[in-house]
Amino acid sequence: MAPVFHPITLAFLFFFVFHSSLAAPVTYNVANFGAKPDGKTDSTKAFLTAWSNACGSTRPASIYVPRGRFLLRNVVFTGPCKNKAINIQIDGTLVAPSDYRVIGNAGYWLLFQHVNGVSIRGGNLDGQGTGLWSCKMSGKSCPNGASTLGFSNSNNIAITGLTSLNSQIFHIVVNGCQNVKMQGVKVIAAGNSPNTDGIHVQLSSGVTILNSKIQTGDDCVSIGPGTSNLWIENVACGPGHGISIGSLGKDLQEQGVQNVTVKTVTFANTQNGFRIKSWGRPSNGFARNILFQHAVMVNVQNPIVIDQNYCPGNKGCPGQVSGVKVSNVIYQDIHGTSATQVAVKFDCSSKFPCSGIRLENVKLTFKNQPAQVSCNHAGGRAAGLVQPDSCL
Ligand SMILES: *[C@@H]1O[C@H](CO)[C@@H](O)[C@H](O)[C@H]1NC(C)=O
Repeated sequence: MAPVFHPITLAFLFFFVFHSSLAAPVTYNVANFGAKPDGKTDSTKAFLTAWSNACGSTRPASIYVPRGRFLLRNVVFTGPCKNKAINIQIDGTLVAPSDYRVIGNAGYWLLFQHVNGVSIRGGNLDGQGTGLWSCKMSGKSCPNGASTLGFSNSNNIAITGLTSLNSQIFHIVVNGCQNVKMQGVKVIAAGNSPNTDGIHVQLSSGVTILNSKIQTGDDCVSIGPGTSNLWIENVACGPGHGISIGSLGKDLQEQGVQNVTVKTVTFANTQNGFRIKSWGRPSNGFARNILFQHAVMVNVQNPIVIDQNYCPGNKGCPGQVSGVKVSNVIYQDIHGTSATQVAVKFDCSSKFPCSGIRLENVKLTFKNQPAQVSCNHAGGRAAGLVQPDSCL
């Protein structure tokens, strides 16, 4: 007798098969495409093959990188892809070539462009940048260097629990993106390493950086022209050059920076805390609606600084003033120690003075005494306890 299936059982079976084949993500393990965890076999091709499979998949896809060290030359992971959910799970370490010249002129070591819905979970990226830093520090002529990880013209990106070590130049760059969430990111490079910014954001909107720890030789986070709706919370910075908006106003035509929130940050032995910096030359750029809130400064050289007379080497700007308009910048609940006498310095444009600067509950000391403040073309007001006395 033929077996009889109840219609509901059939419906369940049908649903299960149909549903799982549509929705279950397909996983591409780089080891299955020839990647070797030995730290010396070039695995670039294997990663690219895994990428083209994941990107070409019409359903959500995962790329899996197992434990071990995988040597990669510079790679561009290009979209658009056929799905909107590619998850890259990294249990191991990606290693750049030890000879810095191999990727030194590539711009990026690992670049994602025109992708939508890519997330990276875990992993270590070892940029092996120390050779290039020595070259630069010796004054020889060297390649510019490659940033370790870049997202360009991409949307809906998540980076979680990633560690970037010894990048040649910038560690993570977000350029021309919307909706990028970084959480639990670690950046580690020497305090004297040149141009090794931790996270650089520009021409992007809706970027969030949470619960991250950045120790490096340049800005922990640098915020370039065209950044809006940026949220940074719970970040430890140091060594490094602090969290910087700028340099702005290098170009005459430039997109501004607006709606930036930076809260709950510690700076330890950094060059700056909260900095806004613009070139001393004409520009239509601006920085407005900025909130710096809840910070602890430990031995920071310039805890609070606006510098609108940036002109390195006195080239390209002598005798000119910044066109960048700085307005509505709030500093709230900031305390700790300054490593120099002047802990708060507002050096604004004489042509476009800073306006709407607010200091609220700010207490900074230098050698156990109230530190000093300096104001040039800065308008605004102080509220609550402010030590040293405000000069606004
Ligand atoms: C400012 O940015 C935050 C995200 O950081 C966003 O939630 C908020 O809506 C933005 N505010 C304005 C006025 O655009």
